[in-house]
Amino acid sequence: MNIDYKAEINRMKQALDVTVVAHFYQRDEVFEMADITGDSLELARKCKADKNPWVVFCGVGFMGQSVKVIAPKKRVLMPKVACCAMARMIDGSYFDDSVNYMVERGIAKNDILPITYINSDATVKAKVGEMGGLVCTSSNAFKIIEKGLESGKKILFVPDRCLGQNFAIQMGLKSCVIGLEEEGKECDPKEADIICFNGFCSVHQLFTLDDIAFYRNKYPGIKIAVHPECDPKIVAASDFSGSTSQLIKYVAELDPQEKVAVGTEYNLVNRMRKGNTYVLSSTKPECPTMNETTLEDLYLTLKSIEDKKPINEIVVAPHTAKYANLALERMLAVK
Ligand code: 13P
Ligand code: SF4
Repeated sequence: MNIDYKAEINRMKQALDVTVVAHFYQRDEVFEMADITGDSLELARKCKADKNPWVVFCGVGFMGQSVKVIAPKKRVLMPKVACCAMARMIDGSYFDDSVNYMVERGIAKNDILPITYINSDATVKAKVGEMGGLVCTSSNAFKIIEKGLESGKKILFVPDRCLGQNFAIQMGLKSCVIGLEEEGKECDPKEADIICFNGFCSVHQLFTLDDIAFYRNKYPGIKIAVHPECDPKIVAASDFSGSTSQLIKYVAELDPQEKVAVGTEYNLVNRMRKGNTYVLSSTKPECPTMNETTLEDLYLTLKSIEDKKPINEIVVAPHTAKYANLALERMLAVK
């Protein structure tokens, strides 16, 4: 029997008290089914404000988990509980090692204010929350770091070294990355304002200075717009850097004749205005985990609610939820 997934998904969305949510990196056919879309911060805020008791979240694990933490009464299901590769680079013990690294180099634990990028597991957010720290996303990192600095403490930034370094540069602050000693780059926490964990996004590492040179040579005057998960060298050589929503806005506001090459995930760039918008890489920058979710997965997840046998439900242990919530709510309180 052939199932018309789109028709069935639309039918169940009408029949059930459910909101379908999708990040911009989702496949087109999944993205088109969503009631709520946005960058990580918008998704968190919109889901929290949404009235439906059921959320079906098409994205990566930390996104669904964050909704469960800030809106614990909701039942959050994910068609694929795909884990962002960057979020996987740090766990609670690596976080503790980073704190210890700073303590061993003369910074008291009380003088450390941790900030975690939202692309991290709830257990890491909980550690950050317990130490009085906050979560940030790519769209509010400037404000959150500013807020963190009000404490007068050293910022420990996890897990994305690129985001940490890019915002340090933007804010005129000194940063260093833990664990690059073999490359001759010593990280002395006493000398830096922001001490970064050595995590990164492999998708955003695909964009190179050669890609930028290629487009600038081919189309003189072209704009280059990238996500701040790109290496600081790439951000410095670009005209604009911002979250996925900020990139969409930047491109939409350009003159239609103006050319732009965008350095972020393929599905999003491909959906941007056609004609004068290019993907800033010869290698297709697809996020494997974002791409795991299919229309069939979304159908099966909604069907599981209809059949009263929900699948892939997000559960967060109480202690973790309590402290991760502190870190997320501190972020949401910053306007
Ligand atoms: P945004 O918050 O900009 O949507 O980024 C999410 C992400 O995972 C980028 O790789
Ligand atoms: Fe994670 Fe990178 Fe995929 Fe974003 S693009 S979800 S940071 S692996």
